[in-house]
Amino acid sequence: MKEPIRIAVVGSGYVGLVAALCFAEMGHEVLCVDNDERKVAALQGGDTLIHENHLPELLNRYRNQQVRFTTDLAEATRLCAAIFIAVGTPQSETGDADLSYVEAVASEIARHIDSYKVIVEKSTVPVYTNEWIRRVIERNGVRRDAFDVVSNPEFLREGTAVEDFLHPDRIVVGADSERAAKVLNAIYAPLTDGSYYDSPTKIPGCCSRENLPPLLNTSTKSAEIIKHASNAFLALKISFINAVSNLCEAADANVEQVARGIGLDSRIGPKFLRPGIGYGGSCFPKDVAAFRSVADQMGVDFNLLAEVEKINVNQKKRFLAKVRGALWTLRGKRLAVLGLAFKGDTDDIRESPAIDLVEMLLGEGCVVVAYDPAAMKRAQAELPPSVQMRYAESVDDAVRDADAVLVLTDWREFAEIDLEQLHSLLRYPIVIDGRNLFDPARMAEAGFTYLSVGRATVTPVRETVDNVA
Ligand code: UDX
Repeated sequence: MKEPIRIAVVGSGYVGLVAALCFAEMGHEVLCVDNDERKVAALQGGDTLIHENHLPELLNRYRNQQVRFTTDLAEATRLCAAIFIAVGTPQSETGDADLSYVEAVASEIARHIDSYKVIVEKSTVPVYTNEWIRRVIERNGVRRDAFDVVSNPEFLREGTAVEDFLHPDRIVVGADSERAAKVLNAIYAPLTDGSYYDSPTKIPGCCSRENLPPLLNTSTKSAEIIKHASNAFLALKISFINAVSNLCEAADANVEQVARGIGLDSRIGPKFLRPGIGYGGSCFPKDVAAFRSVADQMGVDFNLLAEVEKINVNQKKRFLAKVRGALWTLRGKRLAVLGLAFKGDTDDIRESPAIDLVEMLLGEGCVVVAYDPAAMKRAQAELPPSVQMRYAESVDDAVRDADAVLVLTDWREFAEIDLEQLHSLLRYPIVIDGRNLFDPARMAEAGFTYLSVGRATVTPVRETVDNVA
């Protein structure tokens, strides 16, 4: 390993914490700064605060050693060569990203710059943010040659964040000066030269000496647009397949077969073609809205993104219509909801389509009993008291005596449910699956009325045979 680089990461949310620990894993020395003292204390004490594979292991390995958690941004600025800004950029009322946290951090950094620093945008920000950060720092009296602002977007997914960081499809470094690009290229060298992949304790993943991640050097503005365009494109792919799934329902075709048929075209690719109840999470909804707003402000017609959003909203309404279609009236019906997280393998419920659906069902007067393997604690803590569902202890507890089961999150645990047991616990054997976790033929065989997305509804095989007999 070459000389470790001293790196500050400001913000210890999803992106910041994962980046801080992964930089340490790559051999660097990291100061992770957050202004929330309770968060800093929890991290110092070994609590990751989020549910994420590999994170507890990395936190235990590096906390209070190669990674120090602190509230002191002044010290971090003085000590570190590169300062990554990874604070939140929530959606404002107009759909724009709210950049006030980024601005506050930039002016605070400016007050403590005493030698050349590279300031790195790691948060997802609209194009031109680097210009604003530069202006803010200059306005605070820092000379233009004492710093550079670089964009280094992060593409990690929740649930596989550590693996994604250390085994990326690509690393994007948007820098308008060679000096700054060099610092970033050196930070990522353990990945791009493959030395990290020789480590016997490395986090496993798809990259190796033979399959090194490419590093793409671009202008700062291009890098900013790459991040928004990537997320918007992935959201578009999901809305596209959801629209196709609706067509499949109307035409009595099977969307899984269609998705496979189009995904095998290497120009399209098989990923992000899973139909469902629409995309959610802390990124796609916010980033599609922000990208659309950027285009609007620049006078560029990007109405395609409005359609992407419209399909996403409609997908939830269609699912509710499906529930109504299967159960007729909804008031007083007892529904087992499996899954609250916005996707499997995470406890995150931000912008979760499952939560939106629970709210819609409660609005219709249903009694909702929900179970999620990881997200219930957060749901209880974060949802307003008006969202009155009962939290079950297990799948069995949730489905007992229910009028139907609704599958809203793609947890593997749900796909592996014992169907006989499920059948025996339900009041009526009806499964309405928003994530296509089951094979319709198998469900019919097991005695269920089974509704899914973009595939024909099936009814119990057993019942038909019994009736004939
Ligand atoms: C996303 C991007 O993938 C990541 O690159 C970026 O850095 C942050 O945003 P994340 O929000 O963690 O990551 O989740 P992701 O796995 O992309 O799923 C987002 C949403 O789309 C989920 O609600 C998921 O269920 C849904 N989805 C995903 C589908 O409905 N169908 C698919 O085929 C894929």
